[in-house]
Amino acid sequence: PTHPPPYCPPTHLLSSLPTQPPPLPTRPLASSSPSTIVNGIEIYSMKIDSKVTSRFAHNVITSRAVNRANVSKEVVFDVDLPKTAFITNFSMTIDGVTYPGTIKEKEVAKKQYEKAVSQGQTAGLVRASGRKTEKFTVSVNIAAASKVTFELTYEELLKRNFGKYEMLIKVKPKQLINHFEIQANIFEPQGISELEAQGSFITNDLSQVIKKSFSGKKGHVSFKPTIDQQRTCANCSTSLLDGDFTIKYDVKRDRPGDLQIVNGYFVHFFAPTNLPNFPKNVVFVIDISGSMSGIGIQQTREALLKILEDVREDDYINFILFGSDVHVWKDTLLKATAENLKEAKDFVRAINTQGMTNLHGGLMKGIEMLTTAFETNSVPKRSASIIIMLTDGQPNEGVSDRQEIQMNVKKAIQGRYPLYNLAFGYGVDYNFLEKMALENKGLARRIYPQSDSAIQMEGFYEEVANPMLTEVELNYPENAISDLTQNIFKHYYDGSEIVVAGRLTDNDLDSLTADVKAQGAENDVMFSEQADIEETAKALQEQEYIYGDYIERLWAYLTIQQLLDKRTVAQGEEKENLTTEALELSLKYKFVTPLTSMVVTKPEDNEDKAAIADKPVEGTDVFNPTHSYLYSRPPIPSLYTSVDGDPHFIISVPQKEDAICFNINEETGAVLNLINDPVTGIRVNGQLIGDKRVSSDAKIQNTYFGKLGIENKKLELKLEVTPEKITLQKGRKKTVFTWLDTVTLRQEGLTVIINRKKNLVLSMGDGASFVIVLHQVWKKHPLHQDFLGLYTLDSHKLSERTHGLLGQFFHHIDFNILEIHPGSDPKKPDATIVIKNNKLTVTRGWQKDYRKDPKHGIDIPCWFIHNNGAGLIDGVHTDYIVSSIFGTTVN
Ligand SMILES: *[C@@H]1O[C@H](CO)[C@@H](O)[C@H](O)[C@H]1NC(C)=O
Ligand SMILES: *[C@@H]1O[C@H](CO)[C@@H](O)[C@H](O)[C@H]1NC(C)=O
Ligand SMILES: *[C@@H]1O[C@H](CO)[C@@H](O)[C@H](O)[C@H]1NC(C)=O
Ligand SMILES: *[C@@H]1O[C@H](CO)[C@@H](O)[C@H](O)[C@H]1NC(C)=O
Repeated sequence: PTHPPPYCPPTHLLSSLPTQPPPLPTRPLASSSPSTIVNGIEIYSMKIDSKVTSRFAHNVITSRAVNRANVSKEVVFDVDLPKTAFITNFSMTIDGVTYPGTIKEKEVAKKQYEKAVSQGQTAGLVRASGRKTEKFTVSVNIAAASKVTFELTYEELLKRNFGKYEMLIKVKPKQLINHFEIQANIFEPQGISELEAQGSFITNDLSQVIKKSFSGKKGHVSFKPTIDQQRTCANCSTSLLDGDFTIKYDVKRDRPGDLQIVNGYFVHFFAPTNLPNFPKNVVFVIDISGSMSGIGIQQTREALLKILEDVREDDYINFILFGSDVHVWKDTLLKATAENLKEAKDFVRAINTQGMTNLHGGLMKGIEMLTTAFETNSVPKRSASIIIMLTDGQPNEGVSDRQEIQMNVKKAIQGRYPLYNLAFGYGVDYNFLEKMALENKGLARRIYPQSDSAIQMEGFYEEVANPMLTEVELNYPENAISDLTQNIFKHYYDGSEIVVAGRLTDNDLDSLTADVKAQGAENDVMFSEQADIEETAKALQEQEYIYGDYIERLWAYLTIQQLLDKRTVAQGEEKENLTTEALELSLKYKFVTPLTSMVVTKPEDNEDKAAIADKPVEGTDVFNPTHSYLYSRPPIPSLYTSVDGDPHFIISVPQKEDAICFNINEETGAVLNLINDPVTGIRVNGQLIGDKRVSSDAKIQNTYFGKLGIENKKLELKLEVTPEKITLQKGRKKTVFTWLDTVTLRQEGLTVIINRKKNLVLSMGDGASFVIVLHQVWKKHPLHQDFLGLYTLDSHKLSERTHGLLGQFFHHIDFNILEIHPGSDPKKPDATIVIKNNKLTVTRGWQKDYRKDPKHGIDIPCWFIHNNGAGLIDGVHTDYIVSSIFGTTVN
């Protein structure tokens, strides 16, 4: 357990405040003006400090805020980090006391977090994913006139793409900040050859504020806009700092590679230039299933047409289209002559959608075509082959079993051609596509379904358009090194870079040699690189801002990434071993990876408040307890399966600590069966009423439950409840109550409690109890009338055979959420839910639980299933309409 440093709870601080707030700290707050204070909070300083040494970036974001209000306030620290980065540290300092974050194994952290949540404390830290970034948020309550400093550190290895290393810094301070600055210092032992810095939000006036310079091994970028320069207009108090700040640079390439050794670890950067390009054989395997219609197929056509412009004359190409059936453009790969390209373009323009998703058929056809091409010598012997598959769906035609597809594809490819899977949209099984690509020496990439989808696809093609080497193998003297990262690569593409790192086992070594062999477009090639340990040490001495063991950390970063990739594909004991290894390294080097979490004890009250930072994994089930508070879940003591309001159904899923919900739109007067248990004889029906008059502008008439009928055959009990009266019939005896009564009625196997004007609690033995909530609206309300809600407190006595709109969910129901993504409402993300063997699109939303607070209700976050619960409920909702309030016959 962590021991939080001594801290006075805010209540104590508040009561000890002098009546006049104390004078606030002078520096740098002196110049604060109302326009820098938003909702009482002034963020008076925000600094982003990046140090890059040999592509390894170490970034520290520091944000300082003060509560200018005279009451305690919530301060939010909210930043976006690159997906490729690992958080390595986070701390909060409140009034001089620092609360550090500690990295723990995910399971351990989760327990600590859950303990905190079960004590009714709200969560602090949140991660979510966007296109290139992940969000990190923490909020903390700060006493009046108190200060807080947030400090977040993250690290990443910058990748070379199109000949440049790119560093992305998301900038979005949301308010004017007295002291805002970005500082980046780059140190590259090979020497810097170019350096640029841009901001997507930069206007002409601001472009001079970006300072950049480089000479020799050092580069520097700074951006420090004054408060007036941050304003969206001269008199505005809104900030124009909102967007991407990107730094791009490259290093000098006098040699094909560079070998660096520091403190017992080495890294080898390998990126030869000016080699002839390989002729390539590209098979495009394109999904044309029905779901691709619209933006999908449109953007695909556009991208393929652009790609055809870039295809070189010595390339060979073909297109395989798969819907329900598989179509090929040509039976064999065709040389990209001007004439063939023209024909290819006509073919692409005519591509249209059709049928289901026979992914297996399409992919296998593409592989077979490449294999035949080599066997029949119809493509050059020395050429690089690539399969690019684009799909937006799930295999559901031909072979649809994923394991079988994976097995067949792997067997057919035999490691000869890298498979690149482009996953279009959110309906894909990204996990499956990624596994398959990694197994076949390729990678998976998401294509976001937006107006720039074509550019994304084309951009991916450009990355692999120029293979310069194949079968690249980087070797080091075996007896001198260990713990080598991946050192064999299928292809090396122009503009990219191969990075290999390892540990030196021989302390007395004074130099290291790397040998690279590969196949070039014209002949086999060899490269050799040597590093003198003393020389590297000297070269690094010039660097003032070296942060110690960066090559060791770079090695750890790369090793963890590769272990995680291998783990994606592995199974059984091998997977366990890879997990253990990656976990140990993540803990040792303090990286927040998918296996670890960071716990921060949040100083509120006297108790620990745990908060967690997690790394979401692309395309996996991102819904787990540590992510659930992404949707600002209020602490709910307990959640009941219920129906209330117009009528909205909330289905509690306790093991997920979450809920699913749906609405039923049916006509006034309809009676719906809610619960029906043929074994215990318990049945609940509800009749819909509408508003007092039909509102002319509303498309859908709102309906509510105006009458509930509960029957228990065994007890010979019929209970009819309306907003006016409660009629209890036991055998032949009929008793009528009004909502003005307060009554407790106990009989054998039955308890009815009427709480005047509020609710009615009905228990039938133990294990079947319900609450009916009375909603009374203002009598003269022009539209609405009184109505009822039904909450299931306990249903465990009901049998497995229980059915009905609510009853079918009393027994085990589970779901999985895949692919959370932005929806049409920015506050309500969409996702794919897997439930009862269906995949449905759901929207994160809220429904109200009025059990505790009949006036305002409590918001219950839930996954909303559209279309009257289609796909969730058995059958369709009209199957549940019955003839009368105690009716049994389902229409
Ligand atoms: C806080 O300030 C507001 C507005 O200036 C004032 O109305 C209120 O009485 C103050 N509250 C306290 C506790 O000083
Ligand atoms: C994390 O940051 C805090 C605050 O700057 C610092 O005191 C601590 O040493 C850092 N921890 C590590 C492991 O770097
Ligand atoms: C806007 O700024 C000008 C000076 O640039 C000032 O004279 C004027 O009062 C400001 N207007 C408002 C509404 O603040
Ligand atoms: C997993 O690790 C154990 C212990 O180190 C080892 O004995 C076993 O062979 C490993 N299994 C696999 C499949 O790598």
